[in-house]
Amino acid sequence: MPRTRSPFAGRRIRAAVIGTGAIGRGSHLPALAGLAEEGGTEVVAAVDIDQDAVEAFCAQAGIPHAYTDLDRMLAEQRPDLVTICTPPTLHRAQTVAALRAGAWVWCEKPPVPSLADFDAIEAEEGTDGGPYAAIVFQHRFGSGSRQVRRLLAERAMGRPLVAHCQTTWYRDSAYYAVPWRGRWHTEGGGPAMGHGIHQMDLLLDLLGPWSEVRAMAGRLVHDVETEDVSTALVRFANGALATVVNSVLSPDEVSRIRIDCERATVELTHLYGHANDDWRITPAPDVPAEQAALWRDFGPDVPSSHLAQLRELIASMRAGERPRSSGADGRTSLELITALYKSAFTDTTVRAGEIGPGDPYYTALHGDAPGWAPRAAEEVPA
Ligand SMILES: NC(=O)c1ccc[n+]([C@@H]2O[C@H](COP(=O)([O-])OP(=O)(O)OC[C@H]3O[C@@H](n4cnc5c(N)ncnc54)[C@H](O)[C@@H]3O)[C@@H](O)[C@H]2O)c1
Repeated sequence: MPRTRSPFAGRRIRAAVIGTGAIGRGSHLPALAGLAEEGGTEVVAAVDIDQDAVEAFCAQAGIPHAYTDLDRMLAEQRPDLVTICTPPTLHRAQTVAALRAGAWVWCEKPPVPSLADFDAIEAEEGTDGGPYAAIVFQHRFGSGSRQVRRLLAERAMGRPLVAHCQTTWYRDSAYYAVPWRGRWHTEGGGPAMGHGIHQMDLLLDLLGPWSEVRAMAGRLVHDVETEDVSTALVRFANGALATVVNSVLSPDEVSRIRIDCERATVELTHLYGHANDDWRITPAPDVPAEQAALWRDFGPDVPSSHLAQLRELIASMRAGERPRSSGADGRTSLELITALYKSAFTDTTVRAGEIGPGDPYYTALHGDAPGWAPRAAEEVPA
């Protein structure tokens, strides 16, 4: 059957930004501006409940329409793409509203507060050619991760055996003074969900599916409901064993992934984004130098970034194809995080696929764990 012509053929993708705070300003606007320069997108509207904020955002970026109401914007502007930059508990309703209006969605991490929420979104996606909802996982994109993913998929360096996945960041009490942070009801989870999700998502993207997890979580410093540190042991379906650390208590901040394969160790060390120089490949002693040089050939440097992911997303829209980091491919890190919390709070090993409807962890990351339950509704900020 000949493919029907793309609805976006021969024109720019009309985008709208929802939430004009830090990530909307700092990452979505520059990425959309970068693609606009290439002729790929134009931003037709922005939405924020804070009228002054959205008007300033639009004035600064030359965006023609400022709204404080998402539904009204969707009805009046009919955007092709909606990028969602609001706090996590709003992601489900806003994504569903955009999909129902026929728009593709690119929603910030963490995707939604629970697997049940994620599945509710998937049920609203188009079945043939979109619209689809992708999650922002910009660390998967760029030349370094592309090269290492290929080497691992082809088993070029032998089987992966041992991995470390570390998000050791530092957040002070002022950071947690923002009302939606540190609470199950409004943030969904602690650093495993809000911070470590990027490295865990990249680890899963590189190594493939996990099979079991055993974890611990602690609340050692901050006056929050969620954990402020967690550790986990993860077995992968390919047999590799990994350790995972997610902390906001670490003054010497680093994001790191290290994978020991039979013939080489691959290591990525960075903080909030990586370029080719942040990757190191150390061959085993018997590997010829020419072979190692080929492994280290990352090609022209494309740093991980919102722009790198958005460029691929726009290509998927034009092709009418499900984008990477959507559907089952976008669900993997939330599955691992949910299992990490369940393991930590129930003191058990959790296996892939066991958390589904009927399991308390399917609908909330704290499950029904005593001591980790949300505060009474009247104490929880909206
Ligand atoms: N990908 C990354 O590296 C990265 C980095 C930082 C934050 N984030 C994620 O981005 C999201 C937003 O974080 P932030 O730091 O920009 O938060 P923020 O508080 O700076 O901005 C959120 C904005 O959403 C607006 N808002 C709230 N309710 C709204 C509603 N109902 N409709 C429209 N707008 C509404 C707020 O007024 C605010 O302007 C979070 O999910 C966060 O985890 C991702």
